[in-house]
Amino acid sequence: MDRGRAAALLLCVAACYFVTTSAFKEQDFKKCETNGFCKRNRGVKGTKYSVDPASVKVDGAELTAVLINSEPQEPVKFNLMLRAYGPVLRLIVDEQPSEHPGRYQIPDILMPGLKQRLTAWKGQSTAHTWTGSVGDVTVKLTFATFKLEVQVKGSPAVVFNSRSMFNVEHPRKKQEGDPEGWWEETFNGHADSKPAGPEAISIDMSFPGSQHVYGIPERATNLALKPTAGADVASEPYRLYNLDVFEYEHSSVFGLYGAIPVMLAHKKGQTTGIFWHNAAEMYVDVETAKEGQAVQWITESGVLDLFVMTGPSPAEVTQQYGVLTGTTAMPQLFSLGYHQCRWNYKDEADAFAVDAGFDEHNIPYDVLWLDIEHTDGKRYMTWDSRLFPNPVQMQEDIASRGRKMVTIVDPHVKRDSNYYVYKEASEKKYFVRTKDGTEFDGWCWPGSSSYLDVTNPEVRGWWAQQFTPDRYQGSTKHLYIWNDMNEPSVFNGPEITMKKDHLHFGDVEHRDIHNVFGYYYHLATAEGLIHRGSNVSVYGEHGDRPFVLSRAFFSGTQRVGPIWTGDNAAQWSHLAVSVPMVLTLGLTGLPFSGADVGGFFGNPDAELLTRWYQLGIYYPFFRGHAHLETQRREPWLFGEDTTRRIREAIRGRYALLPYIYTLFRHTNQTGIPLMRPLWFEFPDQPALYGVEEEFLLGPGILVKPVLQAGAQSVDITLPEGAVWYEALGGAAFPGKTGKPLTTAVHMDAIPVFYRGGVIVPRRDRPRRSSAAMANDPFTLVVALDGSGKAVGDLYIDDGRSFAFSKGQYLHRRFIYEHGVLTCDTMPQPTGTPEGTLPSKLLIERVIILGLPAGKAYTARSTVNKMHSVVSGAGVDVRLAKGSAVVVRAVNLPLASDWSLRLLEGVAAE
Ligand code: NOJ
Repeated sequence: MDRGRAAALLLCVAACYFVTTSAFKEQDFKKCETNGFCKRNRGVKGTKYSVDPASVKVDGAELTAVLINSEPQEPVKFNLMLRAYGPVLRLIVDEQPSEHPGRYQIPDILMPGLKQRLTAWKGQSTAHTWTGSVGDVTVKLTFATFKLEVQVKGSPAVVFNSRSMFNVEHPRKKQEGDPEGWWEETFNGHADSKPAGPEAISIDMSFPGSQHVYGIPERATNLALKPTAGADVASEPYRLYNLDVFEYEHSSVFGLYGAIPVMLAHKKGQTTGIFWHNAAEMYVDVETAKEGQAVQWITESGVLDLFVMTGPSPAEVTQQYGVLTGTTAMPQLFSLGYHQCRWNYKDEADAFAVDAGFDEHNIPYDVLWLDIEHTDGKRYMTWDSRLFPNPVQMQEDIASRGRKMVTIVDPHVKRDSNYYVYKEASEKKYFVRTKDGTEFDGWCWPGSSSYLDVTNPEVRGWWAQQFTPDRYQGSTKHLYIWNDMNEPSVFNGPEITMKKDHLHFGDVEHRDIHNVFGYYYHLATAEGLIHRGSNVSVYGEHGDRPFVLSRAFFSGTQRVGPIWTGDNAAQWSHLAVSVPMVLTLGLTGLPFSGADVGGFFGNPDAELLTRWYQLGIYYPFFRGHAHLETQRREPWLFGEDTTRRIREAIRGRYALLPYIYTLFRHTNQTGIPLMRPLWFEFPDQPALYGVEEEFLLGPGILVKPVLQAGAQSVDITLPEGAVWYEALGGAAFPGKTGKPLTTAVHMDAIPVFYRGGVIVPRRDRPRRSSAAMANDPFTLVVALDGSGKAVGDLYIDDGRSFAFSKGQYLHRRFIYEHGVLTCDTMPQPTGTPEGTLPSKLLIERVIILGLPAGKAYTARSTVNKMHSVVSGAGVDVRLAKGSAVVVRAVNLPLASDWSLRLLEGVAAE
């Protein structure tokens, strides 16, 4: 495209970002019908694939066989492999090497060391089948027509190719008369040369007995995925293709900025997870069949490399996926506080005024963000010196109040030979190339731009060196990074992204790596922050943990850093859809996420903004952000009542930081998400499988957001098998799945409940930031279950470095039983070094919910079994609708073992 046309296009595309009345532009994006590989395979059945019985060999943990497509005149053969890694199965189908140079297999996503988990099959063959088992898992491979059934403890979990939709488009030579779309394909004037021709793979899977399937982010839609195919359903399939979608709709199958090819199917007693290890574009159809959910997956290229996580519980599925692709990186504590962002804080004075505004209004926050306008002409890692003349001083000043800053760094690099990043990268040939091998010139914020080929490890290594203060001038150790537009967004490209025939490292086509591009960029940036740490002695021996927010993502992103759900809108529907979006990300291994609080496009009124903060404090990543053209909306601009409500909400977040940080340690160790659908914790209650708007934060806090304007009351589902205590007031309610509790709501808070049986640690003193809370004592909320018991834990470390991974941490366990609360060491997963951390921190208060009302108590503590003290302070019995016993001033040391006995019937002082 010539520069003039491209400039006009840029103006148009950029303008779209500014016109808030225009809506999602469907015509800019492909549909299955206009996307050759999807059109060729969607719903297509055939029985041409069979396993050659003579080829089946089992060598310990690996079954190999030859799969034959008998349709062409000369049958096409593929290699099939079936492996077991304990409860995780892996099915690979690839070309026979002699037939084809090899399909692309993404190299960097699976965790190293998987091999050591290989588990030997116990199997046997008949003339028609091979049956093998590992532990509780049994698989049956039927030779003709090829079919694979997986059972767990004798109950069917998933069946592959039961509907005969399996198909691999094998390599072929281009011939006169080949059907349209096999080779070159054009969309909206963009030609895709498709040099390898058709390469798609399709497979169907059935989940017998499952009412719902979940997963395959990212899109703004329900948690339980609605059918897209079958009788009376006319819908586009779900699409996995990282795209910068302008003004996305709140209820759409359409794929957004990130892709995780992971799906969960759930039924009573069995959760099954599927992970297709492939970064090419994919479509997924969901159909509700008589026997359960039936799905078809189609990918444009790459290899069939499917993992089956056999659970059987939802938590085990997420853990098994964590073993495959890694778990959430342990974040710095500050990053769990509140982030204040806007496109844009105009200049240094503006930044200081916002920072001061939080202190004036006694609202805690941790991070102030600068969007693209802070740069010199969108040359990232530079500053507009008129607006930000003293960036170092600005950061130091804000850091002096315990806070951090974040700047945006996008992957498009302005093509300006006076810009050091461009000059050096271009000389080193580090940019993505077009199919002819020339440096790709695409359009984004800076105008003409090139894109770093971050699939090349050398480019990533070079990029990671750009974050030291001598390279990134004006940066300090208080500065962290935001990676946006890394789908990658190309304003003048097909579907606002890169052409699929562009070339990467090793001449790999963009087609094969599209969905993983953003991950690599995010990874290289995070490595840059670690690298900068190791070079600067003030960071200490270990350096600090990186913090890099990304918009695009893929499987494995959890190991790098958080993501947010992109450009939502200041609408109630977008507030509502943020819940299933964040829940879905958690179920698919990426729990550190959140939506822009307030909505990016448009102007929220005070009610919507308040409700958004009240929900947003429970997002694992909690940031307010707004579009350039919106009205200012810092929390104190909507009148005193709103300021007070937002202050209370954000303070509520800060009070929960000990609990949230502990939950992060759990997800870091196991892969279990923070925000959980109700069925995740109560998997045997079918009435919960479709509940979308309520969730649990960790095991212990149930949140019912208010998602409608003017709501006077809400219906809350409190799951059976637990007792629930209102967070404000302590009133107890027995769980009754299927019989919602109707509660009046007011503007000051949304309904939140503690779950009986769980102990939640808090820090209740309001402070200006998480750093300012470092020495504060803790409160334990002990919510008793029906038998008077509760358990919980509290994890602390230095909140910033990697020293925790070498054992510098404290992880304490609390158990309340028979009227005694004990504190001891929390057992750790195998391989975790024992934790020690000198600490003077105290538990100052214990609040017990669920004791018989109207009684008097006193308390006696025993520390380290060495001495006993009767707590000198008064013991307060408060009676609400239920009762909360508050044991004040217990001042028990977190680092020691102790017990606290509650004595009934002794009058309180
Ligand atoms: C798009 C991002 O999604 C948005 O959050 C950001 O403000 C703009 N790009 C400008 O950088």
